[in-house]
Amino acid sequence: MTIQVVDHPLVRHILTQLRDVNTEPAQFRALARQLTLLLAVEATRDLPVRQHPVQTPLEVTDGYTLAKPIIAAPILRAGLGMLEAITELFTDVRVGYIGLERDERTAIAHAYYCKLPPIEGSRVLLLDPMLATGGSAGQAVEVLKKAGATDIVHICVVAAPQGVEYLNQRFPEVRIVSASIDRDLNDRKFILPGLGDFGDRLYGTVAR
Ligand code: PRP
Ligand code: URA
Repeated sequence: MTIQVVDHPLVRHILTQLRDVNTEPAQFRALARQLTLLLAVEATRDLPVRQHPVQTPLEVTDGYTLAKPIIAAPILRAGLGMLEAITELFTDVRVGYIGLERDERTAIAHAYYCKLPPIEGSRVLLLDPMLATGGSAGQAVEVLKKAGATDIVHICVVAAPQGVEYLNQRFPEVRIVSASIDRDLNDRKFILPGLGDFGDRLYGTVAR
């Protein structure tokens, strides 16, 4: 399995607050950003660097610069909750938006928007907090590959075993970095125990 669960106490701490039904949207957004910062470090641990000298105020030493461009590709809308963390860490990042929405009855995602920068030669960080059936992530990977992506890491917050299996079968070359692999999906294809509808909780569109 090409999934890495980031097993860090702070990740568990933040994820627990995201799961909590009493966490309000403002705090939920802050937590989503914090957690993405931690996951992004793992998702980019293997990036190549270029070595070059740097002059400190005291002497010359070895310096390093990231040697591969980064593209963030959030899946609308919930992936937007992860974007700010990436643009903060990688200031030269370019951003491609992929609009997908699951049909509430069938749980099958349909595409409604796509705007990508030139992709070839870049590390693409595919951002979507919930990997449930894997249908949305699968469609997004297909779009990215058609656009020339060869190096894709999918960063999510919670993954269901079914989604991991589906993505691994179709795209074994795509690495998944997640804060958790949860137990199952319910009959509406929501992740159990999960954290509910991430987009609704992020933007307060959930009925109170
Ligand atoms: C959610 C989530 C993923 C998708 C995961 O989005 O953000 O994109 O479902 O489910 P899957 O793995 O079964 O495809 P949703 O379609 O609810 O749209 P939203 O982000 O606009 O709320
Ligand atoms: N999308 C969500 O936001 N939550 C789930 O549990 C499944 C899909």
